[in-house]
Amino acid sequence: MQIGIDKIGFYTPHLYVDMEKLALARNEDPGKFLIGIGQEKMAVAPVTQDAVTLAANAALEILTDEDKEKIDFVIFGTESGVDHSKAAAIYVHRLLGLKPEVRAVEVKEACFGATAGLQMARGHIALHPESKVLVLGSDISRYGLNTSGEVTQGAGAVAMVVSAHPKILAIEEPSVYHTEDIMDFWRPVYSDSAYVDGKFSNEKYISFFQNVWKQYREKTGFTLSDFKAICFHMPYTKMGLKALRTVLDETDEDGRERLLAHYETSKSYNKIVGNIYTGALYLSLLSLLEQNTNIEAGARIGLYSYGSGAVGEFFSGILQPGYRKALQPARHQQMLEARKEISVAEYEAIFTTSLPNDGSAVTLPVNEDPATVCLAGIEGHKRQYVNKNNRVGG
Ligand code: COA
Repeated sequence: MQIGIDKIGFYTPHLYVDMEKLALARNEDPGKFLIGIGQEKMAVAPVTQDAVTLAANAALEILTDEDKEKIDFVIFGTESGVDHSKAAAIYVHRLLGLKPEVRAVEVKEACFGATAGLQMARGHIALHPESKVLVLGSDISRYGLNTSGEVTQGAGAVAMVVSAHPKILAIEEPSVYHTEDIMDFWRPVYSDSAYVDGKFSNEKYISFFQNVWKQYREKTGFTLSDFKAICFHMPYTKMGLKALRTVLDETDEDGRERLLAHYETSKSYNKIVGNIYTGALYLSLLSLLEQNTNIEAGARIGLYSYGSGAVGEFFSGILQPGYRKALQPARHQQMLEARKEISVAEYEAIFTTSLPNDGSAVTLPVNEDPATVCLAGIEGHKRQYVNKNNRVGG
């Protein structure tokens, strides 16, 4: 039985900063941000968006009543959790109107969480072929103002329905993985921004890729010529390219051209959204699938997932007949084009606005946020979420 990705939804907030303007404000040559890092725009989350709302907004665009009836497992990958105890998946479960007969959990391992969710979902479907699993990867990437990681921030979520007989990508066996206890990137519980050893994280990302790619080759006998394209976890769009380049001499000129051309396509959305941590690999997959003009059903796509700390995984999938019909490129184009540019000063003001952390109540301006699902405030230590579609009187 084939199991894999049946639907993919995506959401990013309505505000962004232009990276050329951010570079100038930080006394950097714009070429460094635009070419050296490879980012053109960076999504900025208003105070009314958090990991829960981003994920719910991403899922809303894909779920039908039939999906809601069949989903019995929600797996929420995030490193921007809103509660140490309660799973973000439970808020999303209510906001989406899912049935009560559902398991709902949160999974954490830096940017790897959604891949863990996808693989757990495959196991669940193998045991329960009639059911569907909702896998979410949702994050707000924060390094801090005037830090070297600032250029690699962003915000957004990817939602995937995983099922038997998937319409988009059937995941193949085997999958290979690697774990090492390293401190390349982490966020202590007292900090709202990440700590990072940037150069070390780049080195480890690449060495983990080489490790899992070698394992995969040995287990399958496949070479680069068996892949139409490879999608990478994309903290910034230059990162995957650096890893890909280290293995390109394993193939011929045609192979190199093909993989590099598809890599360009696979960064289309990421370069104008920024880093969305757990969702970044799947946003890259979505970019490739929605923006390519020459990848046919039956093609094998490789996927490299990396979560600092660190866990890496390489796996592959086969594109399914009619996969384009299961995608929504026009909708995503429209969402990205409708965004509003804000100045660097406005971005800094949003970045430094935080929710009260002393337990006091707050009401947030949800009418300033066009998103359907928003964080409306905090009352009695409880986050108040609103789905505007369900409001009495709109
Ligand atoms: N035009 C074009 N390229 C330029 C440039 C210019 N004017 N100026 C610099 N560059 C290039 C550099 O040569 C370098 O390219 P390379 O990486 O291919 O060698 C790139 O821009 C970045 O410059 P660098 O000086 O290395 O940047 P940095 O020290 O400010 O840090 C990161 C870059 C990625 C380490 C930093 O943004 C970071 O810590 N990010 C968060 C961690 C992360 O994303 N890790 C990834 C693995 S999870």
